[in-house]
Amino acid sequence: MTDTSLHFPDGFLWGASTAAHQIEGNNVNSDWWRKEHDPAAKIPEPSLDACDSYHRWEQDMDLLAGLGFTDYRFSVEWARVEPVAGTFSRAEIAHYRRMVDGALSRGLRPLVTLHHFTLPQWFEDRGGWTADGAVDLFARYVENCAPIIAGGVRHVCTINEPNMIAVMAGAAKAGDHGFPPAGLPTPDEDTTHAVIAAHHAAVKAVRAINPGIQVGWSIANQVYQALPGAEDVTAAYRYPREDVFIEAARGDDYIGVQSYTRTKIGPDGPIPAPQDAERTLTQWEYYPPAVGHALRHTADVIGRGMPLIVTEVGIATSDDTRRVDYYTGSLAAVAAAIDDGLNIQGYLAWSALDNYEWGSYKPTFGLIAVDPVTFERTPKPSAVWLGNLGRVRELPRTTT
Ligand code: BGC
Repeated sequence: MTDTSLHFPDGFLWGASTAAHQIEGNNVNSDWWRKEHDPAAKIPEPSLDACDSYHRWEQDMDLLAGLGFTDYRFSVEWARVEPVAGTFSRAEIAHYRRMVDGALSRGLRPLVTLHHFTLPQWFEDRGGWTADGAVDLFARYVENCAPIIAGGVRHVCTINEPNMIAVMAGAAKAGDHGFPPAGLPTPDEDTTHAVIAAHHAAVKAVRAINPGIQVGWSIANQVYQALPGAEDVTAAYRYPREDVFIEAARGDDYIGVQSYTRTKIGPDGPIPAPQDAERTLTQWEYYPPAVGHALRHTADVIGRGMPLIVTEVGIATSDDTRRVDYYTGSLAAVAAAIDDGLNIQGYLAWSALDNYEWGSYKPTFGLIAVDPVTFERTPKPSAVWLGNLGRVRELPRTTT
């Protein structure tokens, strides 16, 4: 086996990702905050102070830039920017603008997500995504983000994992309010239609703010793999959970690809990984090439011309050596896909920090450890290793 390497394509994004609710702390006006404190929702632990990144974002950015990363994906929290319907907080908008300027001044290009799972409580109270007027309300919020994204921001992600939003809505109807397992419950169709409409309205709003912004959205890809004979079942299972959202990205400037593991599908649906398969702290099968499959599938659905950006990929583990192994395998799959002509424009690891993993702090995805009491940050060896690849601008490529 020989190891060679592939030089980053021009302008390649090299970074790490976060989401506001998972790192900021005290997101008290959001639907998740309320859910975390509702015993009926059975959420194992609340987010509380999270990583206190609302106050420590400069330190987070200093670390990422110092490690060698050139890109940082973070999200704007709708519940802060519009805590009451129609009332926009100038101070919060200025806060997120400072983050954009802070990233730029450190040599980090910001990729700004406008919605990453959490909603303002008032929006949830009026019926969430499927209520009348929801799409217009989201578009109005996006318009009000103009001061944050109008200058200096090259990439905007309108909605993170709309397919998981539809799946969570489907699960909630069945009484399950947590973050779903990889097998994926049935998505709620009305929510699917609503978030697709919201995305299209948001793309329009972002382009009106600045037509130079590359706008898209990020889809969770479960890498459904058909067992022999189960190809049709797999395609039918995948369509409402994935492909419908990929197709809705036609006309966007790029599509975000997010992948962690795979799911095998037999004639009767998903098949759990074998008992002896290595599992991560989220209980997902350890499967480093997942993102390579996800990229290829996305390109098959949307067409090869569409720029692809890996906006999340990573592993929840307490064994940081295994994290390096995972990223090594994942990057080799990305390099192979670039070799095969896919238009891949970036790779952002999930996650910059050990953060609030939708119900629990136990699954640690971070490149940087965070002390839950002092909030002290400590980069792990994987952060140093991955950041350094950004300095040499090379992707590992393994050939046999
Ligand atoms: C989400 C993140 C989440 C990660 C790991 C993605 O589904 O966008 O918020 O923490 O996967 O579960």
